[in-house]
Amino acid sequence: MVQFDKDKKIIFSGIQPSGEFTIGNYYGAIKNWVATQEEYNCIYSLVDLHAITVLQDPATLRKRTFEEAAILIAAGIDPEKALLFVQSHVSAHAELGWILNCYSYMGELSRMTQFKDKTAKASSNDSIRVGLFDYPVLMAADILLYQTDVVPVGIDQKQHLELARDIAQRFNQQYSPTFVVPEGYFGTSGAKINSLANPEKKMSKSDENENAFILMKDTPDRIRNKFKRAVTDSETEIRYDRENKPGISNLLEIYSCAKRVSIEEAAKEFENENYGNFKLAVAEAVIEDLKPIQDKFAELVKEKEYVNKVLKESADYASYLANKTLDKVKRKVGFYSTK
Ligand code: TYM
Repeated sequence: MVQFDKDKKIIFSGIQPSGEFTIGNYYGAIKNWVATQEEYNCIYSLVDLHAITVLQDPATLRKRTFEEAAILIAAGIDPEKALLFVQSHVSAHAELGWILNCYSYMGELSRMTQFKDKTAKASSNDSIRVGLFDYPVLMAADILLYQTDVVPVGIDQKQHLELARDIAQRFNQQYSPTFVVPEGYFGTSGAKINSLANPEKKMSKSDENENAFILMKDTPDRIRNKFKRAVTDSETEIRYDRENKPGISNLLEIYSCAKRVSIEEAAKEFENENYGNFKLAVAEAVIEDLKPIQDKFAELVKEKEYVNKVLKESADYASYLANKTLDKVKRKVGFYSTK
C-alpha cells in the first residue's frame, strides 16, 4: 500500500489505453515514470476518458486497459511506491474537467497542434467530436487535481502542458492560489521517438502502417523484421544529424535508450558499420531490453486479482487526494454545500 511522503514533490502522468504501447511510449514516458519513483510521490493513470475521444471498440478498450496496467507494472511501476489507477475510476477527473471548461477559451484550444493534426483529414466539423477538441482541458484537470509539481511526458505533450499551466494561473488569479503550477519533465533522450516508416513523424500506436512502430509486446521476429525495413537514407555514413539523416538519427536515439548509453556513444560505436548491421544491432538491443518486461507481463496477465487490487487501492487513494482539491475548487467557484 502506497504511503506518500509529504516532503516529496508530486508527479502525475497519464497514458491512453487507446492502442498497444509502443517503444515511443516506453522510452518517451514510461521509462521516466519508473526512474522517478524513489524521489517523488508518483501518480500514474490509464486515461480511458481520453481514449474515448476517438471511437473505441468497448470489449477491446476494456481488455486493453487491464493488460496495459499489467504492462506498466511489468515495466517497473512499483505499486508499493506509486499509484496506478484507471482515470474513469476517479470521478473527480470528469468533474474538474467540466469546471475547468468554464475557465478555458475556444481560441486557445483551437491552437492545439495535436487537435489540428488529428482533424486535418476530417471533411467537416460535423465529424469532429467535441471531446477531441476539449481533451487538453481534461488533461489539465488530471494534472491540477493532485497539486502536481512535475509532469513527465514526451515532447508531443508540451503544448498541452503549457495550457494546463495557463489554466492554473488563470484560476489562481481569478480567486486565490488553488493549484500548483506544474513543470514538464522531458528526460534526456527518448522524448521523441519517430516512426520507422517516416522518420520525420512521431512513432504512434495509431499509425495505419504496422511497420512504423514497435510495440512493447512485439515478438523478437517482428521486431527484427520491422527494423530491417526501417527507412534510412541514400548515404552510407552513420552519424547523428536529425535534420539531414532523420532515419539513422532516430535509430541511434532508440539504440541509446535501449542500451542506456548516450547518443554520442552510440554514434561512435557504429561509425564504421554498414546500415544493415546497424539496424540488426538496434533490433537486438530493443529485443533484449523488452524481454524481461514481456516475461513479467506474461505472468501478470494471469494474476488478474492482484492487478485489480492495485488498481482499486490506487483509485481509492487517488480519489481521496483528488477530492481535497475538488472540494476547494467547488467552494471557490461558489457551489452551495450542505456540509
Ligand atoms: P499518449 O497516450 O499519447 O502517450 C503517453 C506518453 O507517451 C509519450 N509518447 C512518446 N514519447 C516519445 N516518442 C513518441 N513517439 C511518443 N509517443 C507517445 C507521450 O508524450 C506521453 O507522455 N494526453 C496524453 C495522456 C494524458 C496525460 C495526462 C499525460 C492525459 N492526461 C496528464 C500527462 C499528464 C497522451 O495522449 O499520451
